[in-house]
Amino acid sequence: MRALRDQFQRFLLEYQFGLKEVETKIGILRDEFLHMHDYNPIEHVSSRVKTPDSLAEKVARKGIDPSFPSIRRHITDVAGIRLTVSFVADAYRLFDLLTQQADITVREVKDYIAEPKGNGYKSLHAIVEVPVYLSTGPVAVPVEVQFRTIAMDFWASLEHKIYYKFDRQVPTHLLDSLKEAADTAAELDARMERLHREVHATPPFPAIEI
Ligand code: GTP
Ligand code: MG
Repeated sequence: MRALRDQFQRFLLEYQFGLKEVETKIGILRDEFLHMHDYNPIEHVSSRVKTPDSLAEKVARKGIDPSFPSIRRHITDVAGIRLTVSFVADAYRLFDLLTQQADITVREVKDYIAEPKGNGYKSLHAIVEVPVYLSTGPVAVPVEVQFRTIAMDFWASLEHKIYYKFDRQVPTHLLDSLKEAADTAAELDARMERLHREVHATPPFPAIEI
């Protein structure tokens, strides 16, 4: 049992390292934005390594062989990081800035902003692989990165709570209401972005005539 526990801890450690690498990359982009552009598109960053319970639940739910190599191959969100950004354009901009880096390999992209889920869920998802250099050599660690606006995040956190409160059987009227709220959130995003662009296109002081 002790050997298994050690193996499991070692297994999870690789994901913690992978997360650290991506967090560092995001942190560098954020600091650079502040220095160079006086503008920080990243509102919030959160990250987590899946808990053993949640991992076991997913292995069972997906009917995956519960061995380390099989989990490594099939479960790509053991390490997850979420970037909440100011505007929709920032989600794509940060996605590009991260995924264009030479040591990052993109394994999968799901653009739920361009194609929202039926319930109204919006976010840009990417599974990226980042190299982690261990004493035994390099390993490519998958990390799920989610990019979303504050409005999308607000919606997703409420939807998540409702989903679990009703044990996945959400009453129809609430589903309809959630869908409507998602549309309202998208309208707010569009309006805020238009406002932002307008303000940035306007000189900060009255233009001096020359
Ligand atoms: P999972 O088995 O849940 O990992 O789904 P998946 O492997 O098909 O991946 P997908 O990209 O669809 O979703 C991954 C993650 O996105 C989830 O773990 C959630 O964090 C988030 N997500 C996806 N769909 C929804 C949704 O409808 N509502 C909320 N609140 N979050 C969602
Ligand atoms: Mg997933």
